[in-house]
Amino acid sequence: MKVPPTIKLVYHGRARQWVSGKDLILVARRTEPMQTLAEELKNMHRIDVDVIQADLSDSAAPAMLFETVRKRGLEVDCLINNAGSSGPDLLQVKDWQAAHEYLELMMTSVVAMCHFFIPPMRERGYGRVLIVASVAGKLATPGDYSYGPTKAYLIAFSRGLSSALRIDGIHVTALCPGFTHTDFHASDRLTRMKHSLPKFLWYDANVVVREGLEALDKGRAVYISGRLYRYLVPLLRSPLGKLVFLALRVKL
Ligand SMILES: NC(=O)c1ccc[n+]([C@@H]2O[C@H](COP(=O)([O-])OP(=O)(O)OC[C@H]3O[C@@H](n4cnc5c(N)ncnc54)[C@H](OP(=O)(O)O)[C@@H]3O)[C@@H](O)[C@H]2O)c1
Repeated sequence: MKVPPTIKLVYHGRARQWVSGKDLILVARRTEPMQTLAEELKNMHRIDVDVIQADLSDSAAPAMLFETVRKRGLEVDCLINNAGSSGPDLLQVKDWQAAHEYLELMMTSVVAMCHFFIPPMRERGYGRVLIVASVAGKLATPGDYSYGPTKAYLIAFSRGLSSALRIDGIHVTALCPGFTHTDFHASDRLTRMKHSLPKFLWYDANVVVREGLEALDKGRAVYISGRLYRYLVPLLRSPLGKLVFLALRVKL
């Protein structure tokens, strides 16, 4: 397998120590935090960091990203599809556009990013694609007709891609974290939900990133992050576990 000397990846998020030695392209909607992070990472790791502003709920964004990357003369060997949010309640919110944009962000943009960025990886005979899903995609939570189902799609998509692309030297991993300390739960509703849950359910983002990158390196098609969740998920998929879920009614 051909391994490039520097791995470039599309990365947004935290866990800064895991980026050592890899040039980065950061993608998000807010430019200022990305530029601050880019400066920090450049100084800390002596790497090149590009910043591209994009809203992945806009269907034109993946093609624009691909074109921008191409024009800057960059090659992407590792694509990390991480952007995601809890989203609107698809039955409560009357505005279809908002629902449509949410599905675009959570599913279609991921497929589009793979559509654009994987063919050059195939030509080079090397690639890594991490798709951040969730344990919510492995558990049919009562009342979740939005977040969990989008993650279930990503898991199925990753599984299919992973086996199709292995022969080309490309690893695809759906990473399934459980509850993780990030800005994801910053809204009042999700902060209340967070405080109502036991602390032992919560993982540090560093653990999730480290385990995710290790699973990607090993070529695991689907990987549940966190030892607790690796035990809990099979348990909660059992008939008894489904009853526990009914009682908890955890909703993102
Ligand atoms: N935290 C958890 O408990 C948990 C558990 C399981 C799975 N996950 C998954 O982990 C992934 C990362 O979430 P996180 O927990 O790190 O949340 P976060 O702290 O809110 O980070 C989300 C990131 O995605 C970017 N983003 C959001 N919407 C975007 C859009 N429309 N276009 C482009 N970028 C966008 C955000 O930047 P901007 O706001 O600047 O765009 C931010 O960098 C998500 O896919 C989430 O579903 C999280």
